[in-house]
Amino acid sequence: MTKTILTGVTPSGDALHIGNYFGALKPLVDLGKSGQKVFCFVADLHALTTVQDKKVLENNIRKVIINYLACGVESENFVFFRQSQVTAHSELAVILGNFISFGQMKRMHAYKDKLQKGVEPESINMGLFNYPILMAADILLYNPDLVPVGADQKQHVEVARDIAENFNKKVQKPIFNLPQPMIDEKVGKIVGIDGERKMSKSLGNIIGIFDDYAIIEKQIMKAFTDPKRQKASDKGTVENNPVFIYHDLWNEDKREVEELKNKYRLGEVGDVEVKKRLLAAHQRYFAKIRERKTYFENNPIEVEKILNRGASLARMTAEMNLAKVKKALGLEVAFVKQSLFFDENYQRPMISFDDFMKLELRVGKVIKATLPDWSNKLIEQKVDFGVLGVRTIYSALRAWYQVEDFEGKKLVYVTNIPPRKMGEKVSEGMIVAVQGKNGPERWAVSDEVGEGTIVG
Ligand code: ADP
Ligand code: TRP
Repeated sequence: MTKTILTGVTPSGDALHIGNYFGALKPLVDLGKSGQKVFCFVADLHALTTVQDKKVLENNIRKVIINYLACGVESENFVFFRQSQVTAHSELAVILGNFISFGQMKRMHAYKDKLQKGVEPESINMGLFNYPILMAADILLYNPDLVPVGADQKQHVEVARDIAENFNKKVQKPIFNLPQPMIDEKVGKIVGIDGERKMSKSLGNIIGIFDDYAIIEKQIMKAFTDPKRQKASDKGTVENNPVFIYHDLWNEDKREVEELKNKYRLGEVGDVEVKKRLLAAHQRYFAKIRERKTYFENNPIEVEKILNRGASLARMTAEMNLAKVKKALGLEVAFVKQSLFFDENYQRPMISFDDFMKLELRVGKVIKATLPDWSNKLIEQKVDFGVLGVRTIYSALRAWYQVEDFEGKKLVYVTNIPPRKMGEKVSEGMIVAVQGKNGPERWAVSDEVGEGTIVG
């Protein structure tokens, strides 16, 4: 069964290193590749707890976005976005603050770490203190099954769970799923070049990914190996030897790795040679990712499109869930039920006026239309929405229309309704069609692609 995965990354400004890549990013990208739906966002609001300088923050945000895109978080199953672009995060955080006690908040790591470092509690900003509440909102808005995080964030996911349980109990409805932290013990600790501690920027024991050749060469050449080995002809140990751990991680020429290991054990190859091969493998393994980084750096419009698409898809889920929360709490008080359309057959409003006002209508250009073989009603459309990017939309209009009636046309779509399962696939929006004499008629226009209105 496909699972919903959600994770956030705080834009800290640090350069990406091997530990982050193999410990966090690659497993995440692999989850997307395996067909899981992944929400991944840049936690720019969280960054405010430590960075309040406009230039620095902007720079950090750009950096992390480009790095993540280069590593593949823009592929099919990802919804990649910026936290501050989806205002529901802030709104839910305000609500959730009421479902956790001051006592529990005081036991949080982020706060306690500061105290341990000798910071006066009086000077700790409330953003930092409230950090776990915002993080709980980040998570609960999307009802994910799993939340991949580093071991240091486990406590925060548990708090999100506590808040969710507390909330559900109060309103007596299962509004929130209880999220599970996902911590990969195997890749959770990639050793640094000191051969001792976890690879970490602050410990200065990292190997970079995007740094210049000379820097990476230096980092690799400095790496700790087998301390008992004095010269190349001594028999060496491969197990737990950082250089071989790294070979296993990124040298895809497995025959070369086996050969090096055998020679090393027999005392037939020197450390320098092993490291040179490791450096060459690093250049090979990360060539594509480095190329993609340059591509995104040179194509800001592409980046903007991906982020807009991500924010728009994220909003679909987030706002729907936020609405459920508000309703459950009694924040949706209506004095008059208004309705614009009335369905004669069913004697009920088809859509309330309030809801109609919330629809986002946009012009999309159909790039391609096909007839999926798993349905006899649906027409699949790949629709370009300009700023929102390209979406896949299914419409049950096959009885009235052909592929040619769609292809190349500019039509009107609703772009902010929740993604909806149609047969085996998911429709990321809905065409606007009106009832005509001979069945539905589409609403064709000749406006600018991506233009639209958010009414209300
Ligand atoms: P750093 O320790 O260099 O400051 P971060 O704490 O910013 O790195 O790490 C971001 C993510 O990358 C974490 O969630 C963690 O899962 C992963 N990560 C970082 N270093 C390693 C490592 N040495 N081994 C495995 N995963 C790591
Ligand atoms: N606090 C996380 C970190 O520093 C980042 C983060 C923010 C996050 N919101 C999240 C991670 C929600 C997972 C889910 O690494």
